[in-house]
Amino acid sequence: MKEYKIALLGGDGIGPEVVAQGVKVLNAAGEKFGIKFEYEKALIGGCAYEKTGTPLPEETVSLAKSSDAVFLGAVGDWKYDTLPPEVRPEKALLGIRKALNLFANLRPAIVYEELVSSSPLKPEIVNGVDIMIIRELTGDVYFGEPRGVGVIDGRNAGYNNMIYYEDEVERIAHVAFKTAMKRTKRLCSVDKANVLDVSRLWREVVIRVSKQYPEVELSHMYVDNAAMQIIRAPKQFDTIVTGNIFGDILSDEASMLPGSLGMLPSASLSDTKLGMYEPIHGSAPDLKGKDVVNPIATILSASMMLKYSFDNDEAALAIENAVKSVLKAGYRTPDIKSEGSTIIGTERMGTLIAQAILS
Ligand code: IPM
Ligand code: MG
Repeated sequence: MKEYKIALLGGDGIGPEVVAQGVKVLNAAGEKFGIKFEYEKALIGGCAYEKTGTPLPEETVSLAKSSDAVFLGAVGDWKYDTLPPEVRPEKALLGIRKALNLFANLRPAIVYEELVSSSPLKPEIVNGVDIMIIRELTGDVYFGEPRGVGVIDGRNAGYNNMIYYEDEVERIAHVAFKTAMKRTKRLCSVDKANVLDVSRLWREVVIRVSKQYPEVELSHMYVDNAAMQIIRAPKQFDTIVTGNIFGDILSDEASMLPGSLGMLPSASLSDTKLGMYEPIHGSAPDLKGKDVVNPIATILSASMMLKYSFDNDEAALAIENAVKSVLKAGYRTPDIKSEGSTIIGTERMGTLIAQAILS
């Protein structure tokens, strides 16, 4: 029997609730496919700050490093908005991404047939959408130096540095081309090369790397146009590769194709098998403890864990199929409700999906 150790970082707000449903579903998949999961919890985000004075305690990082995968909920709460930037919950998320060298963030935006009616867009636009957004995760304006708030030439200013090193672009480009090879071999690189120097280098490097993947059809798009095209005609996209901040924004936008942030999972990968898996949504503190949020993004993140960290495509697919079958049966959390559907809570959604795996 295969055995894996998973670090559970529930985080803030609704994070622990959705992770609990992910665990339920993982256990069901484990039972079905003969995999044993051992879980260990650690603090991250605002809850960690309150207990330890830092949003990312050393023990959390070392637990993550000694695990086979990290399963994360979400971090943040408005009550921490006034904290100094160094101890804000978001800093912990960036910190753990960096500490584990998770430079490749995979965010699939798939519109399941069952959910076409939940999208705010017309059915003919979203039906059949299957996009993989590959967001670079440890560089760009998120981490660039210098950064700060201070007086420059006598004027008060806030500044960040949008910077990409050639090797950073190269490694994310390789991930993107390899991913595209396994899909429909179409890759669109999104940048702002008409204005930004950092994007000019990005584009040059992507083009150079493309020579090693002659089968992949590479295109380039400016980010403003991409933002428009994702809504106008999303089916033109297969794999998208882009920098950290553009990817942050475009992936939230893409979540409106299936109609809810609650549907989009993610995998953050390094060049080892240790990955971190989390829904792309935030901690929604206003919804905490109400049993109303959609756990599917987290459950699908568990599926990505099986696929990318544990090389178990069969179990990963079983989770996806279980999600589809529960949606097909008409069960919905409030965020994806549609006419005639049965509204259920977070817990029940997790239970039904776990049962569907075992049935
Ligand atoms: C995301 C989030 C994070 C990000 C925040 C919470 C720091 O928006 O994972 O998309 O900006 O990367
Ligand atoms: Mg985001």
